[in-house]
Amino acid sequence: MIELPSARAVLHPVDEPFPPGAHDTRSAVTIGRLLGIAVAVAFVTGMISHLHQHPLGWLDLPSRPVWGYRVTQGLHVIAGIAAIPLLLAKLWVVYRHLFVWPPVRDAAHAVERLLLVPLVAGMLFEVTSGLLNVVRWYPWPFFFPRVHYGVAWMVVGSLAAHLAFKWWAVCGRIPEPVAAQPVLGDEPLASPGAAGAAGAAGAPDADRRALLIGALASTAAVTLATAGQTVPALHAISALKPRDPLAGPQGLAVNRTASAAGVRSAALDPGWQLTLAAGDRVTRFTLADLVAMPQQVARLPLACVEGWSAEAEWTGVPLRALLSAAGVPADAHLRAVSLERNWLYANSPLNPAQAWDPLTLLALRLDGEPLDLDHGYPLRLIGPNRPGVHQTKWLERIEVA
Ligand code: HEM
Ligand code: HEM
Repeated sequence: MIELPSARAVLHPVDEPFPPGAHDTRSAVTIGRLLGIAVAVAFVTGMISHLHQHPLGWLDLPSRPVWGYRVTQGLHVIAGIAAIPLLLAKLWVVYRHLFVWPPVRDAAHAVERLLLVPLVAGMLFEVTSGLLNVVRWYPWPFFFPRVHYGVAWMVVGSLAAHLAFKWWAVCGRIPEPVAAQPVLGDEPLASPGAAGAAGAAGAPDADRRALLIGALASTAAVTLATAGQTVPALHAISALKPRDPLAGPQGLAVNRTASAAGVRSAALDPGWQLTLAAGDRVTRFTLADLVAMPQQVARLPLACVEGWSAEAEWTGVPLRALLSAAGVPADAHLRAVSLERNWLYANSPLNPAQAWDPLTLLALRLDGEPLDLDHGYPLRLIGPNRPGVHQTKWLERIEVA
């Protein structure tokens, strides 16, 4: 008769350190730190993106640097994708730690273990939902940014608790052999008179090195393979870039076409006019009026929330010229309104810094040619340091919000 080993024999004793090597505390810390950096970058840049899209009444974001949103959202997706192999490596390092005996040592340990559920599940959700979003596949019934945003707070909260518990472990909760390892610290502590142990220590070191090299190599590979959607120098070598920012009409990608937005006939209507409404004062401009006004040329990036971006040359009328002609107060918050109806991002907000920035244009031309219909003909907004969904196409109206 085959005798099955008892749970006690298979599971790792909760109070014993894991053998040195790829599954020990030092490996968990090394990979944890890299993962922690990626999560921190993703969290901060994600919050910046959130503030752009859901401006707070008391915080007007600046309109500079010109490349601000391009860099922050590009970094967000780069850090998020880099977090995927690091998360897998971290889970591989620590999965044995999840099977300890007894499963709970005391109340604090129970809380610590419970908080791993939102941490691990939240991270898996963030990277999966983020990745599916950038490849533009929405297999879920919920509004992606809202849930992705909420889960980001859950991840960061449970990560802070994770780090606090691990820090507490260093301060003596875990018995001597584990506490003596460099939990959240730098170098391993040399064991006294360890000359003879040098050979034995070689194998775990090699294990750890292989783990680290594997994790770094796969992180570098996925980063190089995808970051070309926003880093021009990597454009040619990023074979897996989720989006080619240069593929589209006039050499620039389009997320929402005029047909998808249902604006073709309204945008092509020769009677089209732009309305500027400031309280009772309403001014209207025909296309010929706008073409006849002094034009400005600016190189500005189109930077999508999905992380892709590209710079182009835009020509048009500076918005500030219209605002001063119409006597719009300098501290007014504005709204740019599209011909498009019934889409969440059809209209976009402009705070005073954005509205009066000399580079915020009502663009008529892209790279020297009239705007393609899919790029917003007859008129689109383009300004520095703004997410692509706020570079409103097929403009119909600018109004005081
Ligand atoms: C989103 C990021 C992270 C996730 C999902 C994660 C997940 C885990 C899991 C599931 C465990 C095993 C449970 C346990 O031993 O209690 C663990 C252990 C550990 N983690 Fe993390 N972790 C993350 C970030 C970090 C960071 C940033 C650090 C520190 C730099 C870190 C340090 C540790 C340590 C020291 C251990 C214990 C290893 C041992 O006891 O030998 N973790 N982590
Ligand atoms: C690593 C953990 C991650 C955290 C903490 C995080 C956090 C955030 C936050 C707070 C936002 C702002 C949501 C809002 O506007 O309300 C955001 C947006 C976004 N994230 Fe992440 N994210 C993570 C991973 C990822 C990954 C892996 C990807 C893609 C590969 C990704 C892609 C996106 C995209 C495309 C948006 C813009 C959504 C939209 O407004 O349409 N994120 N993220």
